[in-house]
Amino acid sequence: MCGIIGLVSDQEVSSTLLEGLKRLEYRGYDSSGIATINANKIERVRSKGNLSFLEEKLSNTNLPGNIGVGHTRWATHGTPDEKNAHPHITDKVAVVHNGIIENNNQIRNQLIESGVEFSSDTDTEVICHVLTTYLNSGLSAYDSIRATMNDIRGTYALGVLVLSEPEKLYAVRGGSPLAIGSTKNQNFIGSDTYSLSAYSENITYLKDGDIAVIESHSYSIYDHSDSLAIREKQSIIESVSLSEKGIFKHFMAKEIHEQPEVLAKSLSNYIDMETGTLNIPSLPYDLSGISNVTLVACGSSYYAGLISRDWFEKFTNVKVGVEIASEFRYREPPMDINGLTVFISQSGETADTLAALRHCKSLGQKTISIVNVGDSSMCRNSDASLKIYAGPEIGVASTKAFTCQLGVLACLAIKIGVSNGSLSKDQEKEYVQSLLSIPRLISNTLDKEDEIADLAHDLSNITTTLYLGRGQMYPVAMEGALKLKEISYVHAEGYPAGEMKHGPIALLEKDLPVFMMAPTNRLYEKTISNLNEVIARDASVILLTDEEGLKNIGYLANKVKAFVLDKTDFITAPFVYTLPNQLIAYHIALLKGTDVDQPRNLAKSVTVE
Ligand code: M6R
Repeated sequence: MCGIIGLVSDQEVSSTLLEGLKRLEYRGYDSSGIATINANKIERVRSKGNLSFLEEKLSNTNLPGNIGVGHTRWATHGTPDEKNAHPHITDKVAVVHNGIIENNNQIRNQLIESGVEFSSDTDTEVICHVLTTYLNSGLSAYDSIRATMNDIRGTYALGVLVLSEPEKLYAVRGGSPLAIGSTKNQNFIGSDTYSLSAYSENITYLKDGDIAVIESHSYSIYDHSDSLAIREKQSIIESVSLSEKGIFKHFMAKEIHEQPEVLAKSLSNYIDMETGTLNIPSLPYDLSGISNVTLVACGSSYYAGLISRDWFEKFTNVKVGVEIASEFRYREPPMDINGLTVFISQSGETADTLAALRHCKSLGQKTISIVNVGDSSMCRNSDASLKIYAGPEIGVASTKAFTCQLGVLACLAIKIGVSNGSLSKDQEKEYVQSLLSIPRLISNTLDKEDEIADLAHDLSNITTTLYLGRGQMYPVAMEGALKLKEISYVHAEGYPAGEMKHGPIALLEKDLPVFMMAPTNRLYEKTISNLNEVIARDASVILLTDEEGLKNIGYLANKVKAFVLDKTDFITAPFVYTLPNQLIAYHIALLKGTDVDQPRNLAKSVTVE
């Protein structure tokens, strides 16, 4: 994945490049670096670790130059060390790369045989050497880049500096996102709109096969056949500010606490408050004729899809499938021509989900993306998109984006149900009222954070745990387990409570912590039977339920640690039961001292497959 940035200006660029990289750090933080051309020399500063280390180095190092490229890395080829940090250079070029070169081994071996020496283990360095070989053969910079594109296979967005052309920045797109941001006196390239929005008045998205030749006052884009290409220039209406943590120690804590407010805001985009009915923008197809719904996503977004499956099934009366994008895209399942495929993604850039979207479009599916980042690739590639309006989510662990995804998915499910006659107007109003109660309900849960912090204290030394639930509480359990795994590095598994007896029950032993999600609903009694099975094996249960649920377990209440939540219904329960799991993961991670916002090995936006 990685984030790349580049700038050609009338002024020195390194500090602006660093600020731009801060906006891209969500894409990876294993290492970072900046290269400039100054006084007929390529100069660079790189560092292992997140951007604070590069910033520290730059404060002690002069890196002059009016043209430069920068990179923040999520390691694919080679360890996250300084030697593998971008930009990669030769005596003639500097390259930053987002993507993966699939035939890099083959090319590397050929280059080594011809006497080229490598200084890193990355696939990107291969690009530098191929490019340099073409330059050495006498080709122009542009032709060398095109020839290199023809040799490499895989996905890439590249920022390229060529020493012999010190006023030109080359931007190359072959499968990974890249855009040009422009003002009067300087031109940028960046992996996303967010990185460009603070500095640019206009943004132009490159297409696959494009090479852009960028100078400080102008740029030209050439398509795959080297013809001058006209790409739409869009104004940047709103400069998205780099979020601050405010009173919170971590972005994740801030984002957990923002949920009542952002959910209210998010829902207000899709609900007419006066009539208490839905107000979804018109879509380019008729929802009443949809024959089936397929939800496709990765990670937490996939769990949001699983939770919403029950809403789609109940409200729309059509068949619903939920797919992990990385599996779905290679399975080639038959798709009904009247099917609607919904792509769920915070970033709108996740490579597997995007590939699945393109595949479904080629099959003639009606497509819709539910995204947080408005100008993202998924928005641009789907027939329609519904934004979740969660605001920038900086913490790698998805929290507010997850609950806002749920809100928008519920709205879409109700909308299809009303459109195809499965739901009456009264039912629509009833469900909308439930949705509108969510900000208050989750705010009540947040008020109990101290209780959760105490619970986390008791659990701070755990090494493994289970999260159990039935129905929608099963994906809520999986999402809870994912949160704990990714930020506190504790092994956790989310499992359907009723499936335990078919194997995982063997894991139960004295004091094993087991989180059970049991709101009083039609599955409550079944869940309590499973609770009994767990208690009988001496495991240590943390029961999430409501007052009625706690009362109904009678004497068993003495055998569990109970966390009592508000009464919920079919719409509100997944929201209300997600919050304590986010908080428990956060507080355990705090006690373990892990890097909550930038957990090891992860990145916010996964743009490699
Ligand atoms: O941007 P997306 O929603 O497409 O990202 C999908 C997953 O990578 C993401 O949800 C991931 O699982 C989060 N780290 C979970 O907290």
